[in-house]
Amino acid sequence: MNKKATLIVDRDFQIAPVDERMYGSFIEHLGRAVYTGIYQPGHESADEEGFRQDVIDLVKELNVPIVRYPGGNFVSNFYWEDSVGPKEERKPRLDLAWRTLEPNEVGIQEFARWAKKAGTKPMMAVNLGTRSVEAALNLLEYCNLDTDTYYANLRRSHGDEKPYGIKLWCMGNEMDGPWQTGHKTAREYGKLAAETAKAMKMMDDSIECVVCGSSHKGMPTFGTWEEEVLDETYDYVDYVSLHTYWSNASGDTPEFFAQNVDLDEFIRTVVNICDLVKAKKHSKKQIDLSFDEWNVWYHSNASDNADMKNLPWRRHPHLLEDIYTFEDAIVDGLALITFLKHADRVKIAALAQLVNVIAPIMTEEDGKAWRQTIFYPFFHASRYGRGISLTPILRSTTHSTSRHENVSDVDAAAVWNEEKQQLTVFAVNRCLEEKADLTIDMRGFEDYQLSSWEALESNDLLAVNSAEEEKVHPIRKEVSGKDFTAQTPFVLASASWNVLVFTKP
Ligand code: AHR
Repeated sequence: MNKKATLIVDRDFQIAPVDERMYGSFIEHLGRAVYTGIYQPGHESADEEGFRQDVIDLVKELNVPIVRYPGGNFVSNFYWEDSVGPKEERKPRLDLAWRTLEPNEVGIQEFARWAKKAGTKPMMAVNLGTRSVEAALNLLEYCNLDTDTYYANLRRSHGDEKPYGIKLWCMGNEMDGPWQTGHKTAREYGKLAAETAKAMKMMDDSIECVVCGSSHKGMPTFGTWEEEVLDETYDYVDYVSLHTYWSNASGDTPEFFAQNVDLDEFIRTVVNICDLVKAKKHSKKQIDLSFDEWNVWYHSNASDNADMKNLPWRRHPHLLEDIYTFEDAIVDGLALITFLKHADRVKIAALAQLVNVIAPIMTEEDGKAWRQTIFYPFFHASRYGRGISLTPILRSTTHSTSRHENVSDVDAAAVWNEEKQQLTVFAVNRCLEEKADLTIDMRGFEDYQLSSWEALESNDLLAVNSAEEEKVHPIRKEVSGKDFTAQTPFVLASASWNVLVFTKP
């Protein structure tokens, strides 16, 4: 028998407008993200600056408003000055995070130019691992100032007269992680991040700063880290970061599909800590969340660890090239649904990453760029998930997994785009065997009609895409909008991602 779910959406029950930066992503100097990813002079699609146009086209398709750069773990030993100026004078450096050789052919300048071409904006990270306030200030001056001063003039001398105007800055990366170059305690990091953000805002008060939260919810310091770091930085920063990666290494798909239950708790806990520190400080200011690394990541772990150990200091080796399955796409869809349900506090998010490295977009060095399975839920959310996130009142049959009880069979979010007069329901049926009947009660949208229903469905949870074949791609479900009434259930296929778009005729 089919599972059952009822979703009530009401035009007056609103969570918050969706900040478009929820659909951000991430490019790190790691593996082939930059070299042979976004940049490959000599490739048939490369432009005069060496950027691959086929990649830019796919990035544009995803409509990514911000891209975090240059790391990640990479940033904690990054000397930005080596990455600007005449290419022939640039020095190669050792990247300690990924044990590779960084040629510095692409750096701050090139990324700013690429971002413009790709229709996105950089979200820049500063090195608070091996460096400090001074290097961050110099970088900010180089990027954002129009003054007649040393670093602004240096940028001009490198050919970029106009500042890049970068508005969003990350105060380092995952500084709670013992693996991080220059790892610190919460108090040590908090003091450094506070002084860095304070000084940067003295230089440019139009910027916003993201302070590092925990690398993941399972970190032993999770909770106390956020509280102590925010205690030090509250007045100077605007967002705290969250990171999460999911794995189905154990092959337990029902559990894999319940990951967003933990994600939801992670978000609620960090929101509570932000508000606790706010109360302790009697502050009027609210700190919001930047979920600036999230994705499935596990397929490539074993080979990457062996390669980094046995074959160090290579240039742009194949690293973190997870090939994503159909079920990974469902998990990413569930994550997007969760972010939308927290649109009041999750203002920024970054799918980690964008090209070749745990990415929706892959490239063949001698061939084309192609879309992984996980491309599609992100594409749909970015395209239809802009507007006001509505409170989804969801009643669903449930099931239990190895670690979770009462997991709803269907999960859903709804976004109303008033300007386009468009209401979109994103829904996942996470049951592996049964279909689910989803009834949608749309209050205040009685004059809207179903205009399209796209879905990801597959009989093979492990189906993958490749440069040659896109086995997993959206299908269009044939339902006539006029036949739809509030009582008509949408029959969601087992293990499926669904995007139901209603518009005013
Ligand atoms: O995205 C890959 C890595 O994951 C990042 O460099 C780091 O921040 C995280 O641990």
